[in-house]
Amino acid sequence: MAAEAEAKLNTISPTVALPAEKARAKALEFDRIADEVFAPIYLPIARRLLELAGISRGRCVDLGCGGGHLGLALAELVTNEITLLDSNPYALELAARRIKEADRERIATLCADVHAMPIAEASAGLVVSRGAMWFWDKEQSLTEIRRILAPGGVAVLGGGYGSPALKTEIYRVMSERNGDDFGARQQKTTQDSLPEDYAPVAQSLGFAEVRVVHDDTGDWLLLRKAAVSGVPL
Ligand SMILES: C[S@@+](CC[C@H](N)C(=O)[O-])C[C@H]1O[C@@H](n2cnc3c(N)ncnc32)[C@H](O)[C@@H]1O
Repeated sequence: MAAEAEAKLNTISPTVALPAEKARAKALEFDRIADEVFAPIYLPIARRLLELAGISRGRCVDLGCGGGHLGLALAELVTNEITLLDSNPYALELAARRIKEADRERIATLCADVHAMPIAEASAGLVVSRGAMWFWDKEQSLTEIRRILAPGGVAVLGGGYGSPALKTEIYRVMSERNGDDFGARQQKTTQDSLPEDYAPVAQSLGFAEVRVVHDDTGDWLLLRKAAVSGVPL
């Protein structure tokens, strides 16, 4: 399986491809954090993203899915087919293992770069992403998201920790684990790539609705593609 993962890594654009050892270490490191510290955030976030989107029809795609925690939480709430996309094949190996353990046949993994997704035009009803947009080129990623969204489809992208209490606890635990100020580290990572930084780019690309939402669960950018009258989602 590792050889397969390495072969996939070599097909990904050099902008996201990492040396295999580094990619494996990154995937394992984040996965441990997601499992040991972030675990309780995914269900409230999944619930809120569905509520914000206001739709649950069509294929759902999670961009930068990591080990698949958000996708699995979504699968508890909706019956849609779900695609978990990430450019790190080692993260997808972990996601695939979780999908198998949870016996969720309607969740598939896809190793791809968000800037050039091998996903058909107008094929996704819902696109979600948590904790990944800080790593993307705004115009390229939003152009791709708009392309894959079906008419009337919605994307909700951003980051957060599910509730103020969870956020406080996670910042405390992560600061202790890393021996630094997790809030300051996060601020540095997300600088210039927050939902409000993406919003003007989304406006210029012609989304029918562009909305920045700051709420108890996190900070989100909601994007709706114009519906074409008479064409169902
Ligand atoms: C911090 S992790 C978040 C994982 C997951 N969304 C979560 O909240 O548990 C960010 C993920 O985005 C992925 N990623 C970053 N840039 C990407 C790109 N251009 N295309 C696809 N995935 C990307 C990384 O490989 C990583 O797995």
